[in-house]
Amino acid sequence: MTTPVLETRGLSKNFGALRVARDIELTLEKGARRALIGPNGAGKTTLVNLITGALKPSAGQVLLDGEDITHLSQAKRAQRGIARTFQINQLFRGLTVLDNIYLAIGERTGACDRLWRPAGAERAVIDEAIKLIETLALGDDALKPVRELPYGRQRLVEIAMAFAQKPKLLLLDEPAAGVPSSESHLILDVIGRLDKDIAVLIIEHDMDVVFRFAQRITVLVSGAVLTEGAPEEIAADERVRSVYLGEDHRRQARHG
Ligand SMILES: Nc1ncnc2c1ncn2[C@@H]1O[C@H](COP(=O)(O)OP(=O)(O)OP(=O)(O)O)[C@@H](O)[C@H]1O
Ligand SMILES: [Mg+2]
Repeated sequence: MTTPVLETRGLSKNFGALRVARDIELTLEKGARRALIGPNGAGKTTLVNLITGALKPSAGQVLLDGEDITHLSQAKRAQRGIARTFQINQLFRGLTVLDNIYLAIGERTGACDRLWRPAGAERAVIDEAIKLIETLALGDDALKPVRELPYGRQRLVEIAMAFAQKPKLLLLDEPAAGVPSSESHLILDVIGRLDKDIAVLIIEHDMDVVFRFAQRITVLVSGAVLTEGAPEEIAADERVRSVYLGEDHRRQARHG
C-alpha cells in the first residue's frame, strides 16, 4: 500500500463545550477526488482549518505523506504542499489579478524573498502567471484591481492562486458559493481539469456538482463522520437522506 497524501487520526476540536470535530479519521490517496458534505454547521470548514493549521486540534493528528505535521504552522504546511480556497475569498483586493498571482507563485518559489526585485520581474514567474491566467480565462481582467471584478471572477483568481502553489493537497471550501451559475461552470470546469496527481477535497452543497466530481464522498454530521463511500453508496444511504431531508424540512419551516 502506498502512503496516503493526507491522513487524520482521531482529529478532534472543541470550542468550549461544543465538539465541532469528533475523532475524525480521513484518508486521501494521491489523486483523490473527495467531496465533504454535511448540513450547515456540521464542521466542514473547521475540518479544513484543522488540516491547514489555521486551527489547532484539541486531540489527534494530521499526517502529510506519512509525516506528522500536527505541530507545524500554517505557513510550513503550505510550503509542504497544502493549499486551500476559502468559503469567503481572501484576496489582495487593491492589487491587480496579475499581481495577486505573482505573489502566490513568488511565495512558492521564494521570488518574493528577493526584495530588491519584485516577484513579477522574473521571467519564469511571468511565464507561469500568464499560463495560469490563460487556464482560468482571466486574460481580460489581468491588469484590473481584484476589487473591480465580479464575485465569480474573484473566485477564479483565488483558485488560480491555489494552483500557483502547486499543491499536493488542495482543499476547496465551497469554491462556487455566491457565484451565479453562468460563471460557476467555469470554476467547476477548471477544477475538473486539475492535475490528476493532486489530492482534492471539495466542500460543496450542490449535489449535482458533488456527484459529477467526487470518486468518494465523506458525510459529516455534528462534527463526526457519519459515513464514507462511493457516490452511489452515499446516494442510497438512508441515514444520509434523512439528514438532508431533515434539513429540507427545517429550511421549509424557516421560510414557509
Ligand atoms: N471560532 C469558533 N468558535 C466557536 N464556535 C465555532 C467557531 N468556528 C466555528 N464554530 C462552530 O462550529 C460549528 C461548525 O462550524 P463550521 O463552520 O465548521 O461548519 P460548516 O460545516 O463549514 O458549515 P457551513 O456549511 O455553514 O459552512 C458551528 O456550530 C459553528 O458555529
Ligand atoms: Mg463551512
